[in-house]
Amino acid sequence: MQPRLFAPLTIRGVTIPNRIMLAPMNQHVSREGFADDYLLVHLGKFALGGFGLVMTEATAIERDARIAPGDLGIWSDDHVPGLARVCKFIHDHGAAAGIQLNHCGRKGSSQRSWQGFGPLNEADARNGEVPWPLLSPTDEPLGPGHVVPRKATVADLEAVAESFAKAAERAHAAGFDVVEIHGGHGYLIASFLSPRINTREDEYGGDLAGRMRFALQVAERVRARWPAEKPLFYRISSVDGHPQGWNINDSIVLARELKKRGVDVIDCSSGGLRQSTALENTLRHPGYQVPYSSAVRKNASVMTAAVGLILDARQAEAILEAGDADLIALGRQALYDPFWAHHAAQELGADPRFEKWHKSAGWWLEKRARGLEQVGYTAAGFPKQAIPERHQV
Ligand SMILES: Cc1cc2nc3c(=O)[nH]c(=O)nc-3n(C[C@H](O)[C@H](O)[C@H](O)COP(=O)(O)O)c2cc1C
Repeated sequence: MQPRLFAPLTIRGVTIPNRIMLAPMNQHVSREGFADDYLLVHLGKFALGGFGLVMTEATAIERDARIAPGDLGIWSDDHVPGLARVCKFIHDHGAAAGIQLNHCGRKGSSQRSWQGFGPLNEADARNGEVPWPLLSPTDEPLGPGHVVPRKATVADLEAVAESFAKAAERAHAAGFDVVEIHGGHGYLIASFLSPRINTREDEYGGDLAGRMRFALQVAERVRARWPAEKPLFYRISSVDGHPQGWNINDSIVLARELKKRGVDVIDCSSGGLRQSTALENTLRHPGYQVPYSSAVRKNASVMTAAVGLILDARQAEAILEAGDADLIALGRQALYDPFWAHHAAQELGADPRFEKWHKSAGWWLEKRARGLEQVGYTAAGFPKQAIPERHQV
């Protein structure tokens, strides 16, 4: 029987060839948001590695929506050709292409991850990385030294929703199959959802309906301008990680409302309200966020992606088998092994003849596997059992 991990998934008019998705991962290495050779090779290697859906990093819908200098951008039509080149490569190698659209909210104007996510400082400014103005539900900054954000007016929110929609149109022009709206990790949308940050008293704050208003507005606006035959994903922080914060029941309510507005998949992450996603979470173990995906999928009757320390093929298969998710998103494990999907297919017996690989590699690996079989090795090149010392060379 075909493993579930390698069953295609058709959503609207798009077929994702298997259930393995590259999780969005900021690279922070572009110049003025342009997709360059680095991005082509970086994302291209996951298409060559067998991922069914290759998702870009959080891509800024406005220049001031960047988290850090170097973020990928889609705030102008000039960004489209570079992204189109990346999409074409991904398609040419059999995968679907997705783009995550983001507004940083009060978490922008920050240093890159490896610089510590701190506020851009004078030394950064001397290097040309000058802080930019930020927008948030209130004027409370992320932390000491961070840019004090402007409290968003209703007109600001309308303008941001429009920027999301314009970005979706550009994503279509570039050839993407999937748009994912980033509604997690403390960025603008998430900061409206969380009662810990959104203390507004107007129609965009207060009760759950008020705090969800902006998230739903963006979904509606994007859905209206993103082709009906293309899937729309929405990433959420399923929980804030704080007892008085956003919780899983809130996420289930939000997922139901998003589904009504034409969102197809909820990508269930968590945390990240303040700095990196790690800070407000408890100790992490493999599959730590899978229960959120499971709860949202079962209670909101919507497709979900599970993410977070999903490490090996059998773990991924078991998540699908249990009905806890429809897609498996891999972040750091994909960085560790860009050919994870092909290796998983070997492990689960889904590709004994290496037919999922690019033929230039697959032809050789299949031939090698037949030879290795005869001397007691697996197709991946490991001894099936301990090799007697006298046979080792
Ligand atoms: C280098 C890196 C960059 C990330 N950038 C983003 C991002 O742009 N958007 C996002 O939603 N999550 C981002 N994340 C979170 C990942 O998508 C993922 O949810 C998280 O790493 C947990 O999955 P993992 O254990 O498989 O890495 C990033 C994670 C890493 C490691």
